Amino acid sequence: MRVISIVGARPQFIKAGIVSRELRNKCVKEIFLHTGQHYDFNMSEVFFKELNLPKPDYYLGIGSGSHGEQTGKMLIEIENVLLKEKPDIVLVYGDTNSTLAGALASAKLHIPVAHVEAGLRSFNKTMPEEINRVLTDHISNLLFAPTYIAVENLRKEGIFKGVYNVGDVMYDVALESIKKVNEQEVLDKYNLKSKEFILTTIHRAENTDNKDNLFNIIEAITEIAKKGIKIIFPIHPRTKKFIEKYNIDLRVQNLLVVEPVSYFEMLVLEKNAKVIITDSGGVQKEGYFFGTPCIIPRNETEWVELIDIGFNTLTGAKKEKIIYATLKEFYSCKEIKENNIYGDGKASRKIVDILVNGSN
Ligand code: UD1
Ligand code: UDP
Repeated sequence: MRVISIVGARPQFIKAGIVSRELRNKCVKEIFLHTGQHYDFNMSEVFFKELNLPKPDYYLGIGSGSHGEQTGKMLIEIENVLLKEKPDIVLVYGDTNSTLAGALASAKLHIPVAHVEAGLRSFNKTMPEEINRVLTDHISNLLFAPTYIAVENLRKEGIFKGVYNVGDVMYDVALESIKKVNEQEVLDKYNLKSKEFILTTIHRAENTDNKDNLFNIIEAITEIAKKGIKIIFPIHPRTKKFIEKYNIDLRVQNLLVVEPVSYFEMLVLEKNAKVIITDSGGVQKEGYFFGTPCIIPRNETEWVELIDIGFNTLTGAKKEKIIYATLKEFYSCKEIKENNIYGDGKASRKIVDILVNGSN
């Protein structure tokens, strides 16, 4: 069996690494394709090194651009690779432009598509990710859903065939990776004390490209910092670009703005933060894996189960709501849920078993 794995953005390197290892364990021939959507060292290569990912067989070097330009260039280049390599199946991850381009190029050539992280929905069609995930799910042959709710979302859209609730590959990799890190070393590097700081990441287009939203979120963060609470802010390049464009001043006492950190460092920060303020999909769940609640400056989330159980909080990009919800969590103790809703840490193994042997 020949599989082409298509990745391009930070969260996809993290998800694909653990599946790739399972493929190798089962002696499946995997061809690894990196579109080049993310290209900075700390948005791409650092994950290949840390997670021991295979060197890409194809690096397309597409880079940044408008949605049409970026997706279109990927489509052309991926098609060339598929025609040359003739894989039995194409594996795509998540909901980025690389996901859609990979799925579309394959489906048009009648090559089966397997979608890891299928069935997530925000029901907000203004999000580029929502378009990408809905379209990808509807042209996929195997749909690996991370949760029961994701399976239900697919059913409601009439997708029943090829759907498997395998759990979340991000849980697998987080569980395994945290054991490999010296937590104290990372805390010392940033001069942080466990459970005495807040971690924040912001990068969603609706929050960066919209000046009011970005101002509200940054003001909330800086006001919390001014109350004497340390905040570490690994800044996504998209967010950095807009902060510079709008001339927003981040030089506030207690606010530590750093370049994007490695995955291992990120896990340590998530585990040891008291609260996380994030609009990231992956970080919301990782917070939960480690018992750290997240305040989400969005109006909706794909990971609704964490809202339903009262673990995470949606505030929208509203300054006062963010401050209130964050301080409430900072000064209280959240009960850690033992019963994990993201599977048993074996999602990647289940995915590869199904790819190789059919349904289990
Ligand atoms: C993309 C995904 C988003 C995902 C995120 C993960 C889409 C539509 N969006 O958003 O779903 O949550 O990745 O992080 O696919 N840039 C750099 N260096 C890089 C990469 C990007 O400077 O290595 C800057 C460029 O100015 C670029 C901007 O970031 O224009 C946005 O990058 P892009 O890949 O288009 O979208 P993300 O916001 O990263
Ligand atoms: N991440 C990281 N370093 C950072 C910020 C995030 O390694 O500085 C990791 C994080 O632990 C998670 C993934 O990147 O595994 C989430 O990616 P991102 O927030 O970019 O995208 P999303 O999950 O929202 O699509």
